[in-house]
Amino acid sequence: MPQVLTDIDLTPRNTLGLAARAAHYAEITEVSDLTALRADTQLAVMPWRLLGGGSNLVLPEVVEGLTLRVALLGRRIVGEDEQAVYVAAGGGENWHDFVQWTLAQGLAGLENLSLIPGTVGAAPIQNIGAYGVEVKDTLFELTAYALADGERRVFRNADCRFAYRDSIFKQGEAGRWLIGEVVFRLPKAVTLHTVYGDIEAELGAAALPRTPQGVAQAVINVRRRKLPDPAVIGNAGSFFKNPIVLAAQRDALLAEHPALVSYPAGEGRCKLAAGWLIEQAGWKGRRLGPVGMYERQALVLVNHGGAVRNDVAALTQAVQAEVQQRFGVALEAEPVWW
Ligand code: EPU
Repeated sequence: MPQVLTDIDLTPRNTLGLAARAAHYAEITEVSDLTALRADTQLAVMPWRLLGGGSNLVLPEVVEGLTLRVALLGRRIVGEDEQAVYVAAGGGENWHDFVQWTLAQGLAGLENLSLIPGTVGAAPIQNIGAYGVEVKDTLFELTAYALADGERRVFRNADCRFAYRDSIFKQGEAGRWLIGEVVFRLPKAVTLHTVYGDIEAELGAAALPRTPQGVAQAVINVRRRKLPDPAVIGNAGSFFKNPIVLAAQRDALLAEHPALVSYPAGEGRCKLAAGWLIEQAGWKGRRLGPVGMYERQALVLVNHGGAVRNDVAALTQAVQAEVQQRFGVALEAEPVWW
């Protein structure tokens, strides 16, 4: 049975660095820990919440119930066929370390997702993505355990209902499953994804080789330049999703704002660069109380020190209201709010 601690400071456990305390807290290092915790009649009736790397979360000042940090570790090559190698990692593994480990094994496919904060188990929940690649592109299957009764279920890629920054684990099944292990299918034929402008430019500027390792280094360089390091300034990466609108709405906006940045997003739809909208609305580098939108990437909300959930809520609403008023576009926050 894992040790259950009370009144634990979660400030260092969320990358936004919001002041927050957990009423009860335990770390899951083995799947059987769930069964042991459920057998405790007091704990069993509390609400349970799962914490990974805390990099996509907005925490309240007091988290009631039991907060479980997923610390299931391990990574291994589990199989191979003619086309691909299959690798598995525990839900508690650090995502970036896992990506670098696959590269060190000579495996490719995850290099564009280097340096994304968080854990392997959290990656499928919001289908993390960057520079033209998403977790859904290589995720083969995952094994999850129901918090309510310990049921073990394997979700194949299609079962996860992946979409842009979304999956079944953020929708209908939200909060119900502990993701214990994730299996990736990494193709043996290497396809580098360098169409994303910043990456192509960085490969050239830094004279990096056109290999998976070279692309990983280019991604790391670009991210370090553009995105604040949570260890230095609290943040949760992109704070809003890039909104998807009808092509007709994009065309109308474009007529008024010729510099509008957008990308195709399936039939008749376009994705708008939320960072551009927020910058045009005057929020880049602007503060509201102890929080603000980052000076080098307007899509990133930063904690300048001492912020709590209400400060984040106030800024979220202010930015949403201004973008709505200026462009008639609704911005949706990306993190999960507890
Ligand atoms: N832009 C501005 N002003 C800004 C920020 C961006 O005008 O302050 C414009 C840029 O000039 C560019 C466009 O917006 O033309 C896109 O910017 P960027 O390349 O920085 O990417 P993004 O759309 O803002 C998305 C992801 C990032 C991911 C990058 C690279 C979302 C919500 N965010 O950001 O993911 O790293 O693309 O693929 O989809 C994250 O989710 O936490 C994250 C960092």
